Amino acid sequence: MEKQTILTGIRPTGHLHLGHYFGAGKNWVKLQDQFETYIEIADVQALTDNFNNPDKVRRSVRDLVIDLLSIGIDPNKATMFIQSTIPEIAELTVFYSNLVTIARLERNPTVKTEIKQKKELFGESGEGITYGFLGYPVSQAADITAFKGNLVPVGEDQLPLLEQCREIVRKFNHIYGETLIEPEAYLSDIPRIKGLDGNEKMGKSLGNAIFLADEPDVVTKKIMGAVTDPNKIKIDDKANPDICMVYYYHKLIGNKNLKTVCSECQAGKRGCVACKKELVTEMLEFLRPIAEKRKYYEANPDEVEKILKEGSKKAKKVAEETAKEVKTSMKINYFD
Ligand code: TRP
Repeated sequence: MEKQTILTGIRPTGHLHLGHYFGAGKNWVKLQDQFETYIEIADVQALTDNFNNPDKVRRSVRDLVIDLLSIGIDPNKATMFIQSTIPEIAELTVFYSNLVTIARLERNPTVKTEIKQKKELFGESGEGITYGFLGYPVSQAADITAFKGNLVPVGEDQLPLLEQCREIVRKFNHIYGETLIEPEAYLSDIPRIKGLDGNEKMGKSLGNAIFLADEPDVVTKKIMGAVTDPNKIKIDDKANPDICMVYYYHKLIGNKNLKTVCSECQAGKRGCVACKKELVTEMLEFLRPIAEKRKYYEANPDEVEKILKEGSKKAKKVAEETAKEVKTSMKINYFD
């Protein structure tokens, strides 16, 4: 069997939330035991739409690595690295940018959604949409191919980016000769996690997320405000758990009492407040081991620093090798 390499990435713009964890992170923890795994902290990508907020990106790199260590990413198994420390990725991005049309980038559904959100924020004039932002799928293709990643475990929203990467790889190999590996997506069994408000997607900017780093009082407040079946008004009204976010999260985090939660809800034998309180207890129990690990790493910043430094060093070697092959294929290896 061909050697399998996992490459995935995440933008440092804040802490991980449950959507990240169940949509992708949980898979990363599982896959690190089986495959060569690289996890990129995509600070350059984060800067494409946070270029005016370098402090936020800088702070989030550390927050994110601690989140990743806390969910069980083991630095002895997975290589975590910072994108900007590897200039070869930027170099590949420039080469690949010739292989992508502007029209194709504008058609990318993920980019399209993000542009729409930006237009809502900045107005129709398109202010806020930079050349760098429009081109981030090209940079993401460089991330993946630099490590010869052939499996990319991501949430559903990333599929169009992966498709764009595959197109770039095919075009590159067609023009310059077989050089790059065409990656495949590896989806979680729940590739998209709903928000507390019932929105189809949990998202930081949507304000409907529970973050892994949330303090217990914040988790409690968020859960007490979660959306339930709107037709259930009185405590003994019968309700439909399938449209209740509280039930959804009971299920998501694996409440052992799930059957009872469901049947009591349907029979009108369970009030929403009690049901939410039970979820708070379960959720805090679920988050506790993660919070404990976080405490450890927050008290040991030198260890975190070392993990990132060594990971970035190791990753750079791999990317250097690929960049060399790419330049040879493109006949720009002048002094070899
Ligand atoms: N686009 C991803 C996000 O928004 C981050 C990312 C950067 C990524 N490079 C990647 C994901 C490579 C998968 C593979 O979080």
